[in-house]
Formats: sequence, structure tokens, C-alpha cells
Amino acid sequence: MKKVAGGGKGALKHLTKPIRIGPFELKNRMVLSPMNETTSGVNGEATEQCIAYYGARAKGGAAMVITGAVMGTKLASEFVWGRNLHCFHQGHQQGLSLLTDRIHYFGSLACAQMTMGFGRQGHSRDHQALAPAPTAGLPYEIAADRDSHGPRQAMEKSEAPRSFLVGQLTREMTISEIRSEQKEYARSCQLALSSGFDAIEIHAPHGYLEHQFLSPLTNRRTDMYGGDWHGRKRLLNEIMEQIRYACPGALVGVRISAEEHVEGGLTREEMIDVALDLEERGADYISLSDGGGYEDTAHLVGTEKVAEHIPASAADFKKALKIPVLVASQHDPVKADADIRAGKFDISALGRQLFIDPEYPNKVMEGRLKDIKRCTRCDTCLVRCLSGLPPACPFNPNLGREYALEEYRIGPRLKHEALMPRAVTNASLPALDRPWWKKELPILKEHWRKFRGPGPIR
Ligand SMILES: Cc1cc2nc3c(=O)[nH]c(=O)nc-3n(C[C@H](O)[C@H](O)[C@H](O)COP(=O)(O)O)c2cc1C
Repeated sequence: MKKVAGGGKGALKHLTKPIRIGPFELKNRMVLSPMNETTSGVNGEATEQCIAYYGARAKGGAAMVITGAVMGTKLASEFVWGRNLHCFHQGHQQGLSLLTDRIHYFGSLACAQMTMGFGRQGHSRDHQALAPAPTAGLPYEIAADRDSHGPRQAMEKSEAPRSFLVGQLTREMTISEIRSEQKEYARSCQLALSSGFDAIEIHAPHGYLEHQFLSPLTNRRTDMYGGDWHGRKRLLNEIMEQIRYACPGALVGVRISAEEHVEGGLTREEMIDVALDLEERGADYISLSDGGGYEDTAHLVGTEKVAEHIPASAADFKKALKIPVLVASQHDPVKADADIRAGKFDISALGRQLFIDPEYPNKVMEGRLKDIKRCTRCDTCLVRCLSGLPPACPFNPNLGREYALEEYRIGPRLKHEALMPRAVTNASLPALDRPWWKKELPILKEHWRKFRGPGPIR
């Protein structure tokens, strides 16, 4: 393994500087942005290609390798878009532990991006099934005149994503179902840690279920999980509390959209309020993406110019928060370095840019900026993933073939690899004294009994 310690001569000072987040230190400020790389097996298991793909990004020097969205409950796994990793029973541990081993071998931290599901954006093999969502009768519909970003282009080039233009009908999740899903989700996060992950990223942007509960456009409930702003934030806040409580030794971050950019949708001010709630409940970082979901995919930033918009809104989040802020899509290392120096964000999350050049972080660390192959945002990778194929890139012939390459294979255990999962051995049993419960007590007392829950902890 080639070790690159600290920024080399001519390296950018801020992007290469280590940063402490929660219980761990990142060796630099570059991480792999979560991307569903559609290489998992039919039952959501990690395949050899999936493992080698992530291993290659770790070998390339990313401080933390974040997986694409992992389905954290059985119900979530039944309503997906394409193919995702699963983590909700012990059978998933074998592949996931091989995956985390590979990432650790090459010297990165491993982070599982976990979700409670696609909600109204999901599709079942059973076309009669109603997708579990905050509100009944609200399937999504993708239309060209509403979406000017990536998937429109993808849908013009491939038949498969076009078949997902309209979602299945939805049904309103019951309160007891929500509670049981949350419990399973938190337990699945523990399972991820037992499989060697150092970190959990709660996936709450892009119109996924967690996001759907937040947005007034998709949450029309009148009970304690809807009604007003406090009610709409409840699902995500409770998820944060439960995962923080279940995973005390892990780095726990949350990905959210900076705003929805749709009339009547979530504003930047509201999302800063969400981030503050999450920070209060023990989030170790906030990762900013953007947009309302597949109907308007602002998160798949199309041009260099548009790439400015997330760093710009990130500065407002940074001003409000004490915890580090991650930002996606700033592919230019010089600009990312300047943005970090200017206090706009702390860590650069690189997606498509690490598809084309997994060695980007090493090159930045060594000051070899001219050697970096820059992503053209042509979205061939995305079109392929949406079509259910592994990603490919016109400029990186290795993408999708990492499993066949000697350099991404694992060898005997190296000294820096922990024998027991660090996020597990780090932890001591948490106390029940959680400050947020105190504020919540009057509301819980009023609503919880009605729904025959166990009642607040005294
Ligand atoms: C093929 C593909 C799959 C993606 N899957 C996810 C995902 O599972 N979870 C997520 O939070 N973002 C996902 N994204 C968004 C990326 O994490 C990232 O925010 C976005 O691509 C912009 O960054 P980039 O310009 O560096 O690619 C995906 C993007 C692509 C291209």
C-alpha cells in the first residue's frame, strides 16, 4: 500500500489537512460521495465488483468511503429504484465485512449510507403493491418540462429509466409501522457497525422517505408525524436520536438537501433548522446535497457554474452549525481548497469525479493537480446506473472492471487494520439522559398514549 502522509510539496493546504469528526480523524478533506454503483447482487449483497470498486476509491486516497444508499429495513428493500446494497439481517454481514475489510486495507474509513427507504419514489416487483409513504395517493411523476437536470438526459438515452417515470400508488404508513421501521433501521445500523463500518450516514435528501416526511409537498398527515413543521421534522429527529443511541462509538452524519428549489418546497432556512435539530441530537456532521428528488434532480449538478450553488448555500449552514459540513460536486481542487479556507464548508464529497479518477485525492495530496482527470459531467455513469448496469466512464476504462485488476486485491492483514470493528470497541453504554427528550415530553404525553405506544421514558 502506498502511504501518503499529509499534503506533499505543492499540495493544497486546506484540502489536505486532517480533520477530526466525532470519534475519528479523517486524513484529508476528500471523501467518496455516496453513489449507488448498481453492482450489488439480486438480494442486496456485496459482490466482488462492488467490493473492488470501493477498494479502488480507498486506494486512491479518499479519507472516507461512503457507500451508496443501503436499504436499512426489509420493507425498504421491497421498494427500490434499481439495485442497492441491503443491511437488515445477519446474512448481509458476510459481504459487508469483506467490503469494509477492503476499504480498511487501503487505509480509508468506511461509512454506510443507510436509509429507511425510497418511499413514494420506490418501485416494487409486485406492481399492485402500494409504496409506503407519509401520505396516500401521492406517486411521483417525472416530466421533461419539470426536470432540466441529469435524469432527463439519461431518460432520453435509455429505455430502462423511462419505465420508472411514474411511481406506484402510495399508502400512508401507520404510526406503529413507522415506529417498528425506525427500530429496525437503528438495529440495522448496529449490524453495519458489526460488519466493520466506522460511520453511518443517515440518508435524508433527494426525496427519499426521510425527506418526504419533512416536505409539505409530500407530507399531508395531520397526526404527530405531520401537521406542522415540528411534526414533519419528527421522523428524522427520532431516527437521529435512535441511531445516535444505538451506535454510540460510531461517527454518525446526516445527508440532507440544502433546499428543494420547488415552489412551496423546503427552503434553505428550514433546512438549516433541520440541521440544527440534528446537531442537537448528536450528529457528527451534515453533508449537503440539494433538491427535492427524482422529479427535479438538482443534486445531479450538471455544469461547473451550477456547482457553485451548493458551496454558496453551505456557507449559511456553516455559520449556524458547530459540526463539520460536507459539500458535494466541487470538482475543482483549487476552488475546494479556497472554499474551505473561506469557511464555506469543511470537506469535499466527490462523486462522479472519483468515478473518472479514483486517484484524485492522492494526486491532490502529492500536489500533482495537472495529472487529475476531470469529470466532464457527461453522465454516462448515471445513464448506465439508472439502466441497472454497473457504471462505466468514457475516460476511465477501469470503472466497472475493478474486480479484474490485481492492484485492487487484498493481501494479508496489515498493522493499521483493527481486529475488532472500531466503532464497536470505541463505545461505552449510553446514558438515558438525552436532553431532547425533556423538550419533547409534553408533546409525547399528549399524543403517544392516543396511539397506545409505550409512553415516554421517565
Ligand atoms: C450514479 C449515481 C448514483 C448516486 N447515488 C446516490 C446515493 O445512493 N445516495 C446519495 O446520497 N447520492 C447519490 N448520488 C449523488 C452523489 O452523491 C453526488 O451528490 C452527486 O453526483 C453530485 O456530485 P458529483 O458532481 O461529484 O458527482 C448519486 C450520483 C450518481 C451519479
